[in-house]
Amino acid sequence: MTRVLVLNGPNLGRLGSREPEVYGSASYADLVDAGARWGAELGLEVEVRQTDDESVLVSWLHEAVDARVHVVLNPAAFTHYSYALRDAAAQVTSGGLTLVEVHLSNPYAREAFRRTSVIGAVATGTIAGFGFESYELALRAVASRR
Ligand code: DQA
Repeated sequence: MTRVLVLNGPNLGRLGSREPEVYGSASYADLVDAGARWGAELGLEVEVRQTDDESVLVSWLHEAVDARVHVVLNPAAFTHYSYALRDAAAQVTSGGLTLVEVHLSNPYAREAFRRTSVIGAVATGTIAGFGFESYELALRAVASRR
């Protein structure tokens, strides 16, 4: 079965209590459950992870490259400035794997600093602004490209 790592960056473990007016009231545990449900529907083996640590996120992208696993990545605040994450994400897509950048909110409709993504140029594509559905749409894109 096609494997997909759904990787989440800093503060996304606090979904549910973190700025619910921006990110919604569903929790990170709800996202993990939804990932399993969408995976079953789409015939994908989905594993959802979250870390606040940039080096851990980089190591998970290396793992995806080495194991040939597609990636759905919400880089959270790292989106806007982490060249280390960008370089790791580039290895995923240059290796022929799909990497979909996702965001719950629409960063382009928010503060100016959120309008820059250093990840977007090396992602296969980006889906933003649909809450949890951003992840579902990203998994659908992975499933249709496999
Ligand atoms: C986010 C948007 C980022 O700007 C922010 O730093 C996040 C979450 C989103 O999913 O909307 O932590 O990636």
